[in-house]
Amino acid sequence: MITSKELRNSWIKFYEERGHKNIGAVSLIGDGSTGVMFNVAGMQPLMPYLLGEKHPSGKTRLCNVQGCVRTVDIESVGDPTHFTFFEMMGNWSLGDYFKKEKTRWSYDILTKVFGLDGNEICSTVFEGNDAVPRDEETANLLKEVGIKPEHIFYLPKKDNWWELEGTVGTPCGPDNEWFYPRHNKPCGPNCGPDCGCGRYVEIGNDVYMQYKKTATGYEPLANKNVDTGFGLDRLLAFLNGVTDGYKTDLFMPVIEYLEKASGKKYDEDEDARKAMRIIADHIRTSTMLIGDVNGIVPSNVGAGYILRRLLRRAIRYARKLGVETVALTDVSKIYIEKIYDEAYPLLVEKEEYIVSEIAKETAKFEATLATGLKEFNKCVEGIERKNAFMTQKDSSYVPEKGINGKQAFRLYDTFGFPLELTEELAAEVGYTVDAKGFDEAFKEHQEKSKQQPQGAFKGGLEEQNEITARLHTATHLLNAALKSVLHDNSINQKGSNITVERLRFDFNFDRKLLPEELKAVEDWVNEAIKADVPVTLEEMSVDEAKAQGAIGVFTAKYGEKVKVYTIGKYSKEICGGPHAAHTGELHHFKIVKEEASSAGVRRIKAILD
Ligand code: ALA
Repeated sequence: MITSKELRNSWIKFYEERGHKNIGAVSLIGDGSTGVMFNVAGMQPLMPYLLGEKHPSGKTRLCNVQGCVRTVDIESVGDPTHFTFFEMMGNWSLGDYFKKEKTRWSYDILTKVFGLDGNEICSTVFEGNDAVPRDEETANLLKEVGIKPEHIFYLPKKDNWWELEGTVGTPCGPDNEWFYPRHNKPCGPNCGPDCGCGRYVEIGNDVYMQYKKTATGYEPLANKNVDTGFGLDRLLAFLNGVTDGYKTDLFMPVIEYLEKASGKKYDEDEDARKAMRIIADHIRTSTMLIGDVNGIVPSNVGAGYILRRLLRRAIRYARKLGVETVALTDVSKIYIEKIYDEAYPLLVEKEEYIVSEIAKETAKFEATLATGLKEFNKCVEGIERKNAFMTQKDSSYVPEKGINGKQAFRLYDTFGFPLELTEELAAEVGYTVDAKGFDEAFKEHQEKSKQQPQGAFKGGLEEQNEITARLHTATHLLNAALKSVLHDNSINQKGSNITVERLRFDFNFDRKLLPEELKAVEDWVNEAIKADVPVTLEEMSVDEAKAQGAIGVFTAKYGEKVKVYTIGKYSKEICGGPHAAHTGELHHFKIVKEEASSAGVRRIKAILD
């Protein structure tokens, strides 16, 4: 049994004893320099130093435990392994030691400090490609420290190469990953760390950062660096012999509290377990984001929107679990007072503020819920009245027990109820919801409105218009991509129409686009998506928007403010919104059609898949 506090401390102690300086953690919120909204990796704040700049401490051996936030997999939270916040235990060599020392130390900390059996440890190294040779050096060193030759695996770039996705100018390199088998029953003759059978747990990785990513490939860096990352949350579960990442001291006090509050058992009730995990994860991340040195509050844009989404999702699952929403502030307090008090003293200092922000957001959301609930109840009462009337007239009448598509759509469109919520409420009173009818009403509405989504999300609920908001952001990127790829700044939007399925964009251009041009446009947009940059909103005067090079329609009157949406370095456009919070949400952009619309105007239809 090892506690999270012991694990954190033993990591730091081990590396301090080997000459490393503990540099502590930085803010979870990106400072804009890296183009990402949150700190997603331990190495992210150290990028300039990995690229060759001198570290302010003057040291070349560093270590820390750094919080990271990754929200791309938010829908997967609820299973045993996904978290939106996690801590990365890291250490770095900035052109100091390299593979010889690092293989030895990683092996030693695993065997001597964490007590793992060296005869069982497996290690994977980069198998090499045209640009970078096979990492025989690391493989040989691993054998020297004591890894059995049959426990060393050569894997391709997709497994053993580490870089921040999509970003040019960043440090990267081959990595050496550490694995341990959970049991000794191989799934077959080729069972190994990459076979996916679940036997091997990934414990951590050592990246040999000696390259810089360029637009066309990789170039060697002046320094040979080491960038190590061992995920604390996952390692803690593994060292304590549990496969459920929530069954550690980082979550158990919260799970126990939720069990008591709901009267449901985590181990026995699958739905309750999922809800408890979602609440535990989302409130932990929310607490960290509000209580951060650069703390944020829920809002409708950027990082604030992600926070709002986390909180509202937690609130919905609190409802599902059957606990009062005050449970959410209680859960936050447990994290602050019992779990992260030592490692994050700032949370303790800001406790009152954090809790009050969560309470405020909860109250706001409940008010929206309350109005919508009234409307929902009216629907049900209406159906019940009709049933009573009809049964009186005809005793063989079969009562209706369903919310129709139009009603569900009205709840969605006017009251901000996601379909999922209406379905939940209906189930509680023994009703069903016509989901197909809802989809039809949705499409009909989109066709009727024949324009881009306008204004803020109605009712501010999380799911509303998310799909169309993403397509809208993709439209801005497409507009910018066309100008760039076709080298034509006179290209302008001549029309735009967005449905839940696709975007349609008309623009002035006098010939058909070549297949390679279409491909280049797609690549351009997908590069912006991969870079996962935030979409930011600023209000300014028309003149200022013009001065900043924003495109769009400049019809606002003198003195009037306009909204300008900026997508990193990719696009700046006057527009009413709404948009995705960051480009990563768009996943992947694909053009499905390019055709003439009218004389001198082309039309592109594209989807996000
Ligand atoms: N940068 C590496 C990681 O985040 C160590 O896994």
